[in-house]
Amino acid sequence: MIGTIQVIHFQSCQTRDARFSQYYVQGQQLYVQYCSNCHQKDGTGLGLLYPPLSQSDFVDQRFSEVVCSMRKGLRGSMLVNGREYNQPMPGIPYLTDLEVAEITTYLYNTWGRNRGLVTVEEVQQISAACAP
Ligand code: HEC
Repeated sequence: MIGTIQVIHFQSCQTRDARFSQYYVQGQQLYVQYCSNCHQKDGTGLGLLYPPLSQSDFVDQRFSEVVCSMRKGLRGSMLVNGREYNQPMPGIPYLTDLEVAEITTYLYNTWGRNRGLVTVEEVQQISAACAP
C-alpha cells in the first residue's frame, strides 16, 4: 500500500517536471516571437522606450498584471525600477491560455527567477479578473 502511494507520487512529480520543461521551452520561443522585438532577447529592454523584464520590480511584484498585459496590453505611465515609461504596449488578444502560461513560465524562471510552473488554470483564474 505504502509502495503504491510512493509510485503515484513519483509519477506525478515526473509529469510536472516534464510539463515544466515543455512550457519553458515553448515559452522561450513565444517570447522571442512576440516580445523580444521590444524587450530584447535578453530581457533588458530598450532605453527609455521599452522597459526591461530581466531586472524589473514590476515583473517581480505584479504577477497578475504581467499575466493580463500579454493579451490586454498596457497603457499610461508606469514606473519600472524607479524609471518612468509611458508608451502603449499592444496586447496580443489571440494568445491562448496555454501560450500565456508558457510565456509566463519562461518569464518567471529565467534571468534569475525560479517561481516554477505557471499552469493554465492559474492563467484562467487571473485572466477572469483582468481589468477590461
Ligand atoms: C511593441 C513593443 C512591445 C511588445 C511587442 C511587447 N511589449 Fe511589453 N511593454 C512595452 C512597453 C512600451 C511597455 C511600457 C508600457 C507603459 O508605459 O505603459 C511594456 C511593458 C511591459 C511590462 C511591464 C513593465 C516591465 O518592464 O516590467 C511587462 C511585464 C511586459 N511589457 C511584458 C511583455 C511580454 C511578456 C510581451 C510579449 C508577450 C511584451 N511585453 C511585448 C512594449 C512592448
